[in-house]
Amino acid sequence: MLVAPSLLAADFLHLDADLRMLNAHADWIHLDVMDGTFVPNISFGFSVIDALKGKAAIPMDAHLMVVHPERWFERLAADGVSYVSFHQEEAGRRTGPNIDAIHALGMKAGVAVNPDIPVQKLFPYIGRADFFLIMSVFAGFGGQKFIYESLDRIAILKAEMERLGAVVPIEVDGGISMSNASALKDSGADVLVAGSSVFSSPDPAATISALRGV
Ligand code: DX5
Ligand code: ZN
Repeated sequence: MLVAPSLLAADFLHLDADLRMLNAHADWIHLDVMDGTFVPNISFGFSVIDALKGKAAIPMDAHLMVVHPERWFERLAADGVSYVSFHQEEAGRRTGPNIDAIHALGMKAGVAVNPDIPVQKLFPYIGRADFFLIMSVFAGFGGQKFIYESLDRIAILKAEMERLGAVVPIEVDGGISMSNASALKDSGADVLVAGSSVFSSPDPAATISALRGV
């Protein structure tokens, strides 16, 4: 199991210390970019991501919760981001072209869906996307409660990828902690995004390693 702590839950007045901890203990750094339009909240953008350039020793994983995510692919590539996900419900018919644009920049493309979007909407991109991102809370805020129906959605997507012989990692995002990590693993999750459970833990490094070991 890979663990991608969400920087959204880090201490923004001490990002350097949190980055060092992530570099030493995490698998990916999850970057939640919000625009106040696709989601009802604004997080951070290139002021933070530019600063991470060359300082992140592990892959950066940008989760774009914005309208027209394709506007930002080039800048993300220039900052050394490895994984980029955008939402299918925002992109619609631009989903395929977005995947191609991310690939053309040498990055891995992920297609995300919120909990109210049928997971079947991801099926056309099996064999094209490098990973999928199943939201287990509604995109927009850290610290929300895990939606248990997400477990079935993960299993449905995994079964379809297996049926088609095109299995790629499933990343799951929102409300993840040790209380649901093994159920997530059993359903077929491969990458766990965790914000509050990691950063509000008394020992974030130990929490990351516990999540990884489920
Ligand atoms: C929600 C974000 C998540 C969030 C996870 O919009 O996409 O990545 O930061 O935070 P927790 O783990 O606190 O739910
Ligand atoms: Zn996220």
